[in-house]
Amino acid sequence: MQTVRSVDEMQAAALAFRGEGKTIGLVPTMGFLHEGHLRLIDMARADCDVVIVSIFVNPTQFGVGEDFDKYPRDLDKDLDLCEKRNADIVFLPSIDDMFPAGYSTFVEETQIAKGLCGLSRPLHFRGVTTVCLKLFALCQPNVAVFGQKDAQQSKVICQMVSNFHLPIEIKIGETVRETDGLALSSRNVYLDEEQRSDALSLHQALQAGKNLVDEGTRNADRVRAELVHVLSKGRRVRVIYADVVDRETMEPLQSEIVPGSALLVVAAWVDSVRLIDNHLL
Ligand code: PAJ
Repeated sequence: MQTVRSVDEMQAAALAFRGEGKTIGLVPTMGFLHEGHLRLIDMARADCDVVIVSIFVNPTQFGVGEDFDKYPRDLDKDLDLCEKRNADIVFLPSIDDMFPAGYSTFVEETQIAKGLCGLSRPLHFRGVTTVCLKLFALCQPNVAVFGQKDAQQSKVICQMVSNFHLPIEIKIGETVRETDGLALSSRNVYLDEEQRSDALSLHQALQAGKNLVDEGTRNADRVRAELVHVLSKGRRVRVIYADVVDRETMEPLQSEIVPGSALLVVAAWVDSVRLIDNHLL
């Protein structure tokens, strides 16, 4: 396994692989890797000749006052995990190379990114699409793998790839969870024992919502109310959103729930830790 820090070297290596007819799979991450990230690496490994994992805590997707400075980092452990999962290259660009002084070009998806996380984090998805487009240009992937855990992000990326005619196949990996259901997230490390226990209410809310639909409830408002009800049981939990949305557009369902096309989504603060989760219906 090789580590590459220079953007020019990364692009030259990627173009050389493509010139040799090799396929490239890219897994973009912000590091502090967990099993959820590693399964995405496995998916890229299963599909492609060369697997690139990028680790870059992207400042442009964090808002003022968010956790950019304290975002967890452990490069040695990340490199060890990538090596064990058979990645070929770990790409570690610097902020100065990615966003040098005078940097001025951003890409913005304007529909799917509007609601949900886009409401409370207005510039977040603009930062995500911009950094992903740059990573695509530098790593030249045939396949890029993202997680269902960040369902809205994955849809926004698919839309960008489609709208810009990028010759990249986007694959989506299932959400990997702790045994009790908590979705793995690099941010879970912020949680103390009591917060960890309250954080479980995100999964419990989604489970309760799913049960209602499984039992035949089709009224979206009834399911929304259930999500909020279960979330509110956590003493430290403040709901950011709890909704039933169309899984393609991420827009709230106005009418009846049609299983197969709907998605339950929740975001909440557990004290000062922002967590999100979702369940396909
Ligand atoms: P990060 O939060 O590090 O996540 C990297 C990828 O791992 C994303 O595609 C995310 O959806 C996926 N992922 C996170 N938790 C997961 C879980 N429990 N199960 C399966 N996959 C999971 O998302 C980002 O970084 C950034 O926004 C990025 C796309 C790298 C752009 O900066």
